[in-house]
Amino acid sequence: MDRINVGVIGCGYWGPNLIRNFVEVPSSKVVAAADLREERLAHIKACYPQMTVTSDYRDFFAMQLDAAVVATPPPSHFSIAKDCLQHNMHVLVEKPLTLCTRDAEELIEIAKARGLTLMVGHTFEYNQAVQVLRKIIAGGELGQIYYVDAVRANLGLFQRDLNVLWDLAPHDISILLCILGRDPISVSAWGAAHILKGTQDIAYLQLTFPDDILAHVHISWLDPCKVRRITVVGSRKMAVYDDVEPLEKIRIYDKGVQAPPYTDTFGDFQCSYRYGDVVIPHIHFVEPLRLECQHFLECIASGQEPQSCGRVGLRVVKVLEMAERSLRNGGMQESIFVEEDYTHERVLA
Ligand SMILES: NC(=O)c1ccc[n+]([C@@H]2O[C@H](COP(=O)([O-])OP(=O)(O)OC[C@H]3O[C@@H](n4cnc5c(N)ncnc54)[C@H](O)[C@@H]3O)[C@@H](O)[C@H]2O)c1
Repeated sequence: MDRINVGVIGCGYWGPNLIRNFVEVPSSKVVAAADLREERLAHIKACYPQMTVTSDYRDFFAMQLDAAVVATPPPSHFSIAKDCLQHNMHVLVEKPLTLCTRDAEELIEIAKARGLTLMVGHTFEYNQAVQVLRKIIAGGELGQIYYVDAVRANLGLFQRDLNVLWDLAPHDISILLCILGRDPISVSAWGAAHILKGTQDIAYLQLTFPDDILAHVHISWLDPCKVRRITVVGSRKMAVYDDVEPLEKIRIYDKGVQAPPYTDTFGDFQCSYRYGDVVIPHIHFVEPLRLECQHFLECIASGQEPQSCGRVGLRVVKVLEMAERSLRNGGMQESIFVEEDYTHERVLA
């Protein structure tokens, strides 16, 4: 296949990162960029004078483009992605794929019927630290997984028409699905809106997975410190993945606790604690967005299903939808129905 001609829709904060990566990958050519804001188009034109810029992405349909990348705010993902698929373009949609499962299912159906690639920008699935953590868990080094604790907090960035759940939790949910290789059975969520009326800026999610694995996710736009940390505690070892760390992103702690044998007296009650070595695995780190863009192009060329395909996007949306329902119902536990035939390890072994 010749170079894949790409058009990027949405050139705000994230879109230019996608443009840069597709420009730098030899197998693609970014032909055009669209944004409603003239100043963003002027910025893109100044950086890439050869690129066509337009305020109406539908101009792409007359340009013989192969693929569209949708980096607009999530409320417009569905309508723009659908329009592009219906004009026979392969589509990469930023996270979350859509704001409801029905819309995600419709995109999947259209892409399938037309033989097009539909992929969602779950960037952390292309983060080598996440893949190393997934392999550590799958290889049994941590033993039986007890629980996972995830924190994604910072001051901002507040979004319009979107709460913190739909903005930040897609990252942690996609990471959890990827590293645990399975979907949650249920979710409960609590949150509060402090700055913008009706828009939750902090939320706490509790997810239950098969085999009694518990996961807790804390997401916040209202925190003094930038935290991007996932702790996985198993029966043999514990691992901490800190995405803010520039180099040593994962630490595996050979630590654990064993319950005491039966004792009659309080004096004899002694848990035994193990304090062993801390191992920092070497991670060959490549910009995750670069790998994501390359993977999208490879999938278009080969016809293989992407790691973060439409169905994976749908699964994340399903969890978010149930979490949103729980958030509105004061933290009620909501069940999550998942298909059985799914495994996350198909593509990136
Ligand atoms: N994968 C990641 O790590 C990551 C990081 C940040 C943002 N994102 C995602 O990227 C998307 C964009 O986020 P952002 O922070 O760049 O938002 P943003 O508000 O900074 O930029 C969005 C841009 O889209 C433009 N836009 C809106 N409607 C449009 C339309 N119909 N046609 C053309 N342009 C339109 C806006 O003018 C704006 O410039 C979101 O889906 C977000 O979740 C992903």
